Amino acid sequence: MAFPTTRLRRLRQSPSLRRLVRETVLTPDDFIMPLFVRPGKGEKRAIKSMPGHYQYSVDELVKACAPIVSAGIPGVILFGIPDKKDARASGAFAKDGIVQKAARALKDKHPGLVLIADLCFCEYTDHGHCGIVEDGNIVNDATLELAAKTAVSQAEAGFDVIAPSGMMDGQVGAIRKALDSGGKSMTPILAYAAKYASAFYGPFREAAESPPSFGDRSSYQMDPANFHEALRETELDVKEGADMVMVKPALPYLDVIKAVRERFGLPTAAYSVSGEFSMLKAAAANGWLDEKRAALESLTAIKRAGADFILTYYALEAARWLP
Ligand code: PBG
Repeated sequence: MAFPTTRLRRLRQSPSLRRLVRETVLTPDDFIMPLFVRPGKGEKRAIKSMPGHYQYSVDELVKACAPIVSAGIPGVILFGIPDKKDARASGAFAKDGIVQKAARALKDKHPGLVLIADLCFCEYTDHGHCGIVEDGNIVNDATLELAAKTAVSQAEAGFDVIAPSGMMDGQVGAIRKALDSGGKSMTPILAYAAKYASAFYGPFREAAESPPSFGDRSSYQMDPANFHEALRETELDVKEGADMVMVKPALPYLDVIKAVRERFGLPTAAYSVSGEFSMLKAAAANGWLDEKRAALESLTAIKRAGADFILTYYALEAARWLP
């Protein structure tokens, strides 16, 4: 039935009517907070391009998680800035590595908080690439061995979920096998299944001190122009044993989020990345948009597209803004 019998404005007449027919509602349960941890004690270094975010030493990180827990946010994902970087990313799988130390401290003080380990090597290699480099190439299969070791080391340190983000072929399978034979068969994998070579990671590279010293990441991260390839990437990760999958970035890739959620039916995460956050912060600082409305609208759109949960630097602010 068409107009004038049908008038869609009838259900938009009051806040209560609108609430009644609202299809997507955000809650703090939807959010994961990304956090950066560095060596030292009593350190809380501001990340300039990401207002309100810091590189924390482990003791400060534990403190920073108290309000996150109180706000009802279920989990955090950690990125480490190691003391030393080298060609083999030793800091990534060291028993006393920076994120391993952080996980032990957090498990002790906030046992209910879900700890997700980002598993990648760009923060740990001296060249800033996400894998082993030989003759200027990022070598896939040699990197898998490191990924397997790192996953077990992270799980042993107390991480609840392992999230490989290096975009090496076969990484999910290699990690699953290592976890299973390392006594960690109950540790789930959140695969960064469709991760694009995105300009929106810019501020993160300042935060994690991880820009590549030569070239870029286009030989392993996906071409932003490709949609069907994202489905192939996801299908492989599902076959290799991913428990959950992720699309990254979020806002420019809503079509991918929607298709991945509908096609595979796995819990699907979206990573609203550093650039998505910094854009809103910068515009808000200039008085160009209403930050609270713009941030909640963005997060709602990501959930509406199909994300079951969202990794977002707005996690704490958004949780506090919600009614
Ligand atoms: C790789 C990694 C990156 C991000 C998360 N994991 C950076 C990259 O691929 O260059 C980006 C996250 C963000 O921009 O918020 N370890």
